[in-house]
Amino acid sequence: MTSLSDTYTLSNGVKIPILGYGTWQVTDPQEAVDGVKNAVKVGYRHIDTAQMYQNEEFVGKGIKECGIPREELFVTSKLNNMNHGYDSARKTIEESLEKLDLDYLDLFLIHWPVVKNNGGDWKQDNIDTWRALEDLYDEGKLKAIGVSNFAVPHLNNILENSRIKPMVNQIRLHPGVLQKETVELNRENDIVIEGWSPLSPMKYLGEDTTVQEMADKYGKSIAQLLLRWSVQHGFVTLTKSVHAERIKSNADIFDFELTDEEMTYFDGLTFDELSTPEDFQER
Ligand SMILES: NC(=O)c1ccc[n+]([C@@H]2O[C@H](COP(=O)([O-])OP(=O)(O)OC[C@H]3O[C@@H](n4cnc5c(N)ncnc54)[C@H](OP(=O)(O)O)[C@@H]3O)[C@@H](O)[C@H]2O)c1
Repeated sequence: MTSLSDTYTLSNGVKIPILGYGTWQVTDPQEAVDGVKNAVKVGYRHIDTAQMYQNEEFVGKGIKECGIPREELFVTSKLNNMNHGYDSARKTIEESLEKLDLDYLDLFLIHWPVVKNNGGDWKQDNIDTWRALEDLYDEGKLKAIGVSNFAVPHLNNILENSRIKPMVNQIRLHPGVLQKETVELNRENDIVIEGWSPLSPMKYLGEDTTVQEMADKYGKSIAQLLLRWSVQHGFVTLTKSVHAERIKSNADIFDFELTDEEMTYFDGLTFDELSTPEDFQER
């Protein structure tokens, strides 16, 4: 964890850069194109989008225009909840490739386990959906496959009933949302963990003198401390901004290291107003 170009190796040997540029809520076409280009310019090589974000086309344009060869980038997309099921997943993943104008994706994820709203048996639904990802992986269109927002029961369902283990689980992770059991199960199964919304606690930390002292000590912003916390936990960290300066400063987190005590301080924070992970997983 010494530079923006560091990678982890997935269970199938594919390398994944440890910091990713996220594109959730980037709906303005030009902001999406510019965001990707600005991120690549300062050294990000990992771009995260999703069918649900409705920006694959613009993210794809940013990738085309960024000036870096495709094979040097790591691009992820995710399956929209309404596209579960073998046939629908296959069809819409092909559509994602078309929108992004790419021949392959480096990683494709089932975005949510969709427990409540799939109108049937969520376990079978996820197994069928996963099979589509496995087949497209075999065909070389997806270089790695994984899941997102899968807690212990959802993950066990796939692990017990599928041919290929997920290589990644992308979950919400930041001080206040640690998802310890899920993290442990991922690690036991050699599943790389990606953390989303690492900056969520920012609005609660402005008055926190301990955190402010850390920021002063390292000459870093609270955003940089939170991103460093995530990276130091060994999570592939996804962060988003549409502002060039923030995109740059969010990547400037490799020249300091939080102490064990500082990591423990962040681990112990709780924020009443932040949604618990269950709110997200049971949709
Ligand atoms: N799998 C899932 O279900 C899931 C869910 C959520 C997110 N994700 C992925 O994870 C990525 C990261 O999550 P996130 O978008 O919530 O990212 P985040 O980096 O935790 O937070 C982004 C928010 O913080 C602001 N921000 C960024 N840098 C800042 C800075 N240095 N100082 C102050 N504010 C700053 C951004 O505003 P500005 O843009 O105005 O700077 C934006 O409002 C997403 O973009 C998406 O790709 C996945």
